[in-house]
Amino acid sequence: MRHLEVGVLLISAALLILLVRGDGKAAAPSALNLLHPADKSVVSGAGLSHIIVELSQPASLLVRLNGKLQENAKIKETIYHYSVRLDFGLNTLEVEASAGGTVLARDKRDLFFFSPIAKEKEIPQGFVSTPFHKLGSTSEKCRACHTLEPQRTDRAPPTPGVSTCYTCHKEITQFKQVHGPAALWNCLACHNSSSAPQKYTTPVPVRDLCYGCHIDQKNYFFSAQFQHGPTATGMCTICHNPHASDHEFWLKKEPWDLCTTCHSDKASGRHILAWGPTGDTHPTRGRPDPMKPEREFSCRSCHNPHASNAPKLWNFDATTAYQLCWTCHKK
Ligand code: HEC
Ligand code: HEC
Ligand code: HEC
Ligand code: HEC
Ligand code: HEC
Ligand code: HEC
Ligand code: HEC
Ligand code: HEC
Repeated sequence: MRHLEVGVLLISAALLILLVRGDGKAAAPSALNLLHPADKSVVSGAGLSHIIVELSQPASLLVRLNGKLQENAKIKETIYHYSVRLDFGLNTLEVEASAGGTVLARDKRDLFFFSPIAKEKEIPQGFVSTPFHKLGSTSEKCRACHTLEPQRTDRAPPTPGVSTCYTCHKEITQFKQVHGPAALWNCLACHNSSSAPQKYTTPVPVRDLCYGCHIDQKNYFFSAQFQHGPTATGMCTICHNPHASDHEFWLKKEPWDLCTTCHSDKASGRHILAWGPTGDTHPTRGRPDPMKPEREFSCRSCHNPHASNAPKLWNFDATTAYQLCWTCHKK
């Protein structure tokens, strides 16, 4: 009899260990339940991610991103939201709940911010994109307080606050420059409200959507003789954030930084004069643009980022390097 009891005890203990260690979390209801994001998620776009935590009792909550403290708050509510801006590449997110100086629970997530203009482009094994708005998988826990279905007024909300999307996504427009339709919270101008199983998708490539409103760019692009690789792919959002950014034309980086991400060998400016007799270097930034003195000289002073009738995507319809030089260096 005793042997049997011990055996049962051992088996239960082993099971308990298995349960506890199986996914790194205790199986018993925990003081802290990290509802979102999922571990090993790939995040794209601008790298914004929300942390959504369920707490079983009032607690102090610490949020750390890559070891840096983001938030230290006393929480009375059962659901807690916090938003973070990820760095390019791999990020580690840690949350810790404590009460009276004792740690009740902690949890962590590894996230990968993918962007074609990051140095870290290789998605680690096992990381996948985990869209939040997937029909059927949306947690019932949100519906108690949030509307998850798009409403008729979302097509043209009279004020941003009326948009269904606003409560959860207001950070998306909190930048210096906001794109017209996003500033009006006309989110459904671009996001398909009836796509399934994933809601709110955008077309890939996105080009025709942009051209729907930007007819001038469309005409120019299709009539020009030479097209820039990344623009020709139709993936306008490699360089432009469709919502907002701190840079002009809602670029994802400052123009010079953007170009040199993919063309680091051109940063020195050696390529500009390499063909000439001197073989010296030419500045590529750090002074006013002679043709547009209100802005900084940079790659775009000489090259069009989209398309051109001139070789090497030169501006000013210059057909030879000489013509290009003379535009700025005429006496
Ligand atoms: C001009 C078209 C356009 C409008 C308007 C627009 N979006 Fe987007 N959105 C996109 C595209 C395209 C993507 C794909 C992301 C990328 O390629 O960078 C995207 C991605 C997203 C993402 C994924 C994460 C991210 O930061 O990229 C969220 C969230 C989002 N949109 C929410 C919204 C909300 C909320 C609104 C309304 C304020 C809105 N969008 C308005 C085109 C648009
Ligand atoms: C108990 C009510 C409640 C529940 C349940 C709830 N929320 Fe919220 N949530 C709120 C309130 C209230 C706000 C508005 C906070 C504000 O405007 O500052 C909010 C804001 C948000 C935000 C924006 C947060 C920010 O800092 O900008 C997101 C994202 C969000 N909720 C997602 C969710 C998701 C996902 C779920 C389901 C897993 C959920 N919420 C469940 C009450 C709740
Ligand atoms: C209950 C809160 C909530 C509401 C309401 C909401 N979203 Fe989201 N949405 C989220 C969360 C959470 C994510 C995951 C990204 C993150 O962590 O911020 C997300 C992600 C997205 C994405 C990226 C793809 C995906 O599914 O992960 C798009 C696009 C998007 N939302 C569009 C919209 C649009 C358009 C509306 C309004 C019609 C809307 N959302 C309303 C919470 C919400
Ligand atoms: C629903 C119509 C609409 C769609 C779709 C749209 N845009 Fe726009 N866009 C506008 C409006 C209106 C403006 C001018 C107002 C402003 O500055 O925001 C604008 C301005 C711009 C500008 C700045 C132009 C300038 O001369 O200052 C850029 C860059 C831009 N859009 C890029 C895009 C990209 C990239 C896409 C596709 C992802 C896109 N737009 C899709 C309506 C749209
Ligand atoms: C390689 C990066 C890159 C890609 C890809 C790209 N753009 Fe741009 N875009 C820029 C830069 C840089 C500027 C600023 C140009 C300037 O200041 O002369 C710009 C400016 C713009 C403007 C403002 C007016 C203008 O023509 O200068 C619009 C509108 C625009 N882009 C739309 C688009 C659309 C639509 C696509 C996709 C078909 C696209 N862009 C793809 C980098 C890019
Ligand atoms: C996402 C990567 C990427 C970014 C960002 C990028 N480029 Fe490019 N670029 C390419 C690729 C790939 C090619 C080669 C394909 C092609 O266009 O022929 C190229 C080609 C070029 C060429 C040569 C075209 C020819 O006909 O020989 C020029 C000039 C150029 N890029 C300028 C720029 C400028 C200026 C910027 C910033 C506004 C920029 N690029 C940003 C990827 C990029
Ligand atoms: C003062 C004008 C000027 C500026 C500024 C400039 N370029 Fe150029 N770029 C040229 C000329 C001229 C050529 C042609 C060189 C040749 O034929 O050897 C060229 C060629 C290129 C090419 C094509 C090279 C090839 O092998 O076909 C790329 C890519 C390029 N530039 C990118 C850039 C980037 C990125 C910047 C900013 C860091 C930049 N350029 C700044 C004038 C300029
Ligand atoms: C878009 C305008 C622009 C174009 C096009 C341009 N340059 Fe320049 N160039 C500049 C600026 C700005 C400077 C810096 C002037 C200063 O520092 O005061 C400069 C400086 C120079 C210098 C002096 C270099 C130094 O270190 O100070 C030479 C030589 C030169 N350019 C040659 C050329 C040649 C050759 C071409 C054609 C391949 C050319 N430039 C095309 C704007 C341009």
